[in-house]
Amino acid sequence: MRSIPTWLVSEPCTDVDLGVIKTGKEAQVNLVQRTGADGTTCQFARKRYLPREVKFKGQLEALGVQRASTFVNDVQYREGRQFRKSRDRRAVAQMSTYGKRLLQDRWTGHEHEIMTRLWKAGLSVPYPIAYGDDVFDLEYIGDDTQAAPQLNAARLTRVELDEAFAQVVAGLRIVIREGFAHGDLSAYNLLWWDDRIWFIDFPQAVDIAANLAGLDFVRRDVVNICGWFQHKGLDVDADDVFDDLLHFM
Ligand SMILES: Nc1ncnc2c1ncn2[C@@H]1O[C@H](COP(=O)(O)OP(=O)(O)O)[C@@H](O)[C@H]1O
Ligand SMILES: [Mg+2]
Repeated sequence: MRSIPTWLVSEPCTDVDLGVIKTGKEAQVNLVQRTGADGTTCQFARKRYLPREVKFKGQLEALGVQRASTFVNDVQYREGRQFRKSRDRRAVAQMSTYGKRLLQDRWTGHEHEIMTRLWKAGLSVPYPIAYGDDVFDLEYIGDDTQAAPQLNAARLTRVELDEAFAQVVAGLRIVIREGFAHGDLSAYNLLWWDDRIWFIDFPQAVDIAANLAGLDFVRRDVVNICGWFQHKGLDVDADDVFDDLLHFM
């Protein structure tokens, strides 16, 4: 069992925003420093989900966000994750304000829930600390001078590329064993730090058993990431990787 990092979550504490790490497709991630009553400090990443729909020009700017997000139709992802109450299902189907709110909350909570499961299963994911009100706090990967680069931007040697690929496959085996497809796997959603791959960005993760298209998402992830490694000169085969993963279901 991995040890759980100590975060000052239950004691009174103050948070100071140290600035933006990155504005991604759907979220802005900031570095936050938390100081406890006794003066102890820790740093973590705070992911703030961007509004799924921009209602008026300047809304994002007004919220302090630098760049607009693309609205992703998540109907396909939601399949198999039905709302229990019929009132909620109707609201989502009609996309009423309440329905949109439900979806947003679910999206945020979903990422936290999946990452918690995968962290416990031993996957290399930042430790999911807490979520609420469209923000998700998680372990920060990086140091005082820089955040961990996305795999895409990390300058890996040939030996490191081989190592990274092996770690990605090992990680995917854990993800599929736990019954999920990442759903948006790419060299942008993997970080490379201290010779280690970190999987991030799970809001769209799919429950394979509950979603008929689940394996299609796994295949798409595998094709995407194998394509990137091939482009970097590695002799890898997406079909072989996919077949291997099926043994871990
Ligand atoms: N825990 C973390 N530590 C360091 N950087 C992170 C962390 N989480 C996210 N990032 C950075 O923020 C970017 C956006 O986060 P991500 O979860 O991928 O959201 P999005 O849906 O916006 O792509 C990542 O690509 C990465 O560069
Ligand atoms: Mg991302």
